[in-house]
This record gives sequence, structure tokens and C-alpha cells, in this order.
Amino acid sequence: MQNMKYILILVAGLAIQGNNAESASKIGSQWVEIDGKQYYFEMQNYADWHDAQALCERRNLTLISYQTVEKWNSIRNFLLLEPDFDMNLWSSGAKLADGQFLWRSTGEEVTYTDWATGEPNLPAGSEFCVVVSAFPNGWDDIECTDRWFASVCEEP
Ligand SMILES: *[C@@H]1O[C@H](CO)[C@@H](O)[C@H](O)[C@H]1NC(C)=O
Repeated sequence: MQNMKYILILVAGLAIQGNNAESASKIGSQWVEIDGKQYYFEMQNYADWHDAQALCERRNLTLISYQTVEKWNSIRNFLLLEPDFDMNLWSSGAKLADGQFLWRSTGEEVTYTDWATGEPNLPAGSEFCVVVSAFPNGWDDIECTDRWFASVCEEP
């Protein structure tokens, strides 16, 4: 009987863990106005890069692009005010086979960057996508198929 109890506790624990991994953070998805522009922080559905794009498109939005230091600083300053935003967030940045980075939502070349120390660190030749984080600060190139990141959407 005692053993049964432990098994039940273990199963319940695993269920909770699985749930956390699949769905989401402590904070809900939310619209945030920053510098007069509306951004949708998709926190309820963690996704790989392609699914993150689809989640934004479902709302007629696109994955965010950080074309300027001002834009990144504004989003970053917002993230820094909220300890629960200590996570990786997808951007529309992606690397082409030739190693060049593009903002896929706008088709613009990535000119301004704020790579984390040691990034980007993955070789050319495969598809890599850009996540950003404010804790610690910086951008990172990772596999586009990596799952379970939140994302930020913006109006196209
Ligand atoms: C997206 O745009 C289409 C076409 O304008 C519109 O019919 C639809 O309601 C919009 N969806 C959302 C979630 O705003």
C-alpha cells in the first residue's frame, strides 16, 4: 500500500512536469504597448521557430524583427522589468545557407546585432534561427527545430 502511494506521487509529479514543458510559463500571453507599437507576447504556447511563425500569423501578426538598437533596447527594457521573462524568445532572424542572417518577417538583412558572448556559434550550411534573451542579455543562433520557446509577435 505504501509503495502504491509513492508510485501515485511519482506519476502525479511526472504529469505536472510534462505539462510545464509543453505549455507555458507562469505568465500569460499578453499584448504590450511599447513605444506606441503593439506587441503580442506569446507565452502560452511554446513552439519551434516555424510554429512560432504560425502562432503569430494566426493573429495576423509576424514574428518580431529587431532592426535597430532602439527597438531591441525597448523590448529588452520591458523584459528586464519582469523576472518571469527570463527566457529565450524567438525572433524572425534566420540564417541562410550562405551564412547571412535575414529578418524573415520583413526580408531585410540583419545589420544591427546584439549577439551574446560567443554567439553566433553554429556553422553555416544548415538552418539556424535567432532567439533573444534579456537574462543575460544577448542573441543566440540555435536550431530552428528546437522546441519550447516563447515568442514575440508584431504587426506586419
Ligand atoms: C486576419 O485577417 C483576415 C483578413 O483581413 C480577417 O478576416 C481575420 O479576421 C483576421 N484575423 C484576426 C485574428 O485578426
